[in-house]
Amino acid sequence: MRPSKDPLLSTQTIEARVGELAGAISRDYEGRELTLVVVLKGAVFFAADLIKRLTVPVRLVFVRARSYQDTESTGRVELTGGPGDEVAGRHVLVVEDILDTGRTCTVLLERLRAAQPATLALCTLLDKPSRRVTPVEADYVGFAIDNLFVVGYGLDFNEEYRDLKAVHLLEE
Ligand code: IMP
Ligand code: MG
Repeated sequence: MRPSKDPLLSTQTIEARVGELAGAISRDYEGRELTLVVVLKGAVFFAADLIKRLTVPVRLVFVRARSYQDTESTGRVELTGGPGDEVAGRHVLVVEDILDTGRTCTVLLERLRAAQPATLALCTLLDKPSRRVTPVEADYVGFAIDNLFVVGYGLDFNEEYRDLKAVHLLEE
């Protein structure tokens, strides 16, 4: 398995879309302070680029989520570094790399809701709506893609290829 030679989403395409998302989020949260809950590790590139373009003040919280082995969702979601005090009463926006079966976000959103944020929303760079097992929808979506396994721009295949600057398909 290796990344496609040509990217599915080029750096320019990603950059332009991240700018649009940052614009929409900045407008929606104008006059408020935002607490971003960044899901490690995949969402770090996206989150960093997004934060640079936001015009509202931002607090940062990180959580670690794990569910994938090779290209298969295991169905079990492990969360570590659970947010508690950091999100209570705050305007919380979860930043994910990709919404696939929806299991990770369902568990994370449940955990966050229990900590009683003032508002809670979800932003994902990529969305595979056809793969959903649990019903969860993002408030901000960068790109909806088909049922394809992708790597790069933070997304990995067994910890490889996160460092690619663009999003590529994983091919035989
Ligand atoms: P979910 O719980 O099935 O929605 O899976 C979400 C997590 O699975 C994401 O945060 C990714 O870490 C991983 N994932 C899902 N699809 C892909 C993919 O195409 N490439 C790399 N990682 C993926
Ligand atoms: Mg992953």
